[in-house]
Amino acid sequence: MTSKLWLQDYGYEAAKLGIQTSLDKLGLDHIDLYLLHQPYGDVAGAWKALEEAKAEGKLRSIGVSNMTPKLYRELTADFASVPAVDQVECDPFFQQKALREVLSENDVKLEAWYPLGHGDKSLLEDPVITTLTEKYGKNAGQIILRFEVQEGFIVLPKSTNPERIRGNIDIFDFALTDEEMASIRALDTGKVSHDPEAPGVGEMLLKNYKIHD
Ligand SMILES: NC(=O)c1ccc[n+]([C@@H]2O[C@H](COP(=O)([O-])OP(=O)(O)OC[C@H]3O[C@@H](n4cnc5c(N)ncnc54)[C@H](OP(=O)(O)O)[C@@H]3O)[C@@H](O)[C@H]2O)c1
Repeated sequence: MTSKLWLQDYGYEAAKLGIQTSLDKLGLDHIDLYLLHQPYGDVAGAWKALEEAKAEGKLRSIGVSNMTPKLYRELTADFASVPAVDQVECDPFFQQKALREVLSENDVKLEAWYPLGHGDKSLLEDPVITTLTEKYGKNAGQIILRFEVQEGFIVLPKSTNPERIRGNIDIFDFALTDEEMASIRALDTGKVSHDPEAPGVGEMLLKNYKIHD
């Protein structure tokens, strides 16, 4: 079970209440993984509240999300403890190579949101991927997820199709070769659809997503 703290609940006191609200809404006495959803506002205060809730056993693991290499270095510099994960946009067209170097310094795991490119057809139908679907008898999503798992990412695929949901976990009975891994690594464009450093993103999110209203 993962849940996240939204921007309206940032700052130490607000975050303490936000964590308790998450537990109450879920009807749980602890949450396995709890993330700071966005890298804006009083991140340090919110993180301190997460650390305390972890020490109290309310949160088993705590992490961050949407932190680029720059934001990760700036915002976590004063954290007393290292995040377990940074949950960021990541797929074969955007492999987060710079961030992975930063995270690996402290063995922080990368969790990939949009691991299937949010269903991007140009990714799912890329010839590098479709050639492998034939070889392994797997669909394009399974090939991409297998690549990501072999790269060491934690993946968060979503599907509304029961057959695909079952298939998306059925990726542990084959392994891509070193050459095949290299061919998918070569698809990286370095371009991302969501840039957390773009001016005004924090303000826009706070204005448009008011979770308590
Ligand atoms: N931390 C953050 O700020 C953040 C931001 C955005 C998203 N997320 C999270 O990321 C997760 C994934 O997001 P997402 O669903 O938008 O992106 P996604 O998992 O990359 O893509 C989902 C799309 O891929 C299709 N799909 C699923 N399995 C497939 C397969 N095996 N072959 C072909 N197509 C397949 C789905 O269609 P069907 O439904 O028709 O199968 C759907 O259109 C969500 O849980 C979301 O909450 C987090």
